[in-house]
Amino acid sequence: MLTVVEHPLIQHKLSLMRDERTGVKEFRELAGELSLLLAYEAMRDLELVPVRFATPVQEGDFPMLSGKKLALVAILRAGLVMTEAMTDLIPAAKVGHIGMYRDPETLQPVAYYSKLPEDIGSRRVFLTDPMLATGGSAVAAIDKLKEVGAERITLMCILAAPEGIEVIRQAHPDVDIVTAAVDERLNDHGYIVPGLGDAGDRIYGTK
Ligand code: URA
Repeated sequence: MLTVVEHPLIQHKLSLMRDERTGVKEFRELAGELSLLLAYEAMRDLELVPVRFATPVQEGDFPMLSGKKLALVAILRAGLVMTEAMTDLIPAAKVGHIGMYRDPETLQPVAYYSKLPEDIGSRRVFLTDPMLATGGSAVAAIDKLKEVGAERITLMCILAAPEGIEVIRQAHPDVDIVTAAVDERLNDHGYIVPGLGDAGDRIYGTK
């Protein structure tokens, strides 16, 4: 399922991120804030159980998270800013990392690094990558997650291209996608249009 979170706060913050005049500090902060707002929506269906205790006024049954385990997995490097922000919301979540490079001959993304919670098979996984462009890295990361037993996976991104969404749909139709917006298309260099530029470079100030 594709969820585009069209909340005014999210759209406003995304527009600030798109603006080329936005500097590194603000861009990074906005990416974190947007990730929290997206997580709020992506986790809407987490299971609750009634827990009995007393308020200062009366005893009762009150809804609390069921304790089913979560994992946040960042696709390096741009996904890091998203998982770091999300651990403020869910401090008990385990965090994994997957690094990708593009094979110069096949042009296919290859996972060069992966450090994942050992019990990931029993966890609900939120995979983060701010930009879903061609979808190549996300598909390779999801392949890797499934290889080690992950079953319920949500891909969280700030911006998506229709091409990338289609690639995920074809390769992994069971994976949910949560994004703040779907842009027009990819350009010849694989950038999302109108987009926000290179998310990693803008987060880390490397350009
Ligand atoms: N990755 C980015 O950071 N930006 C794009 O537009 C596409 C891929």
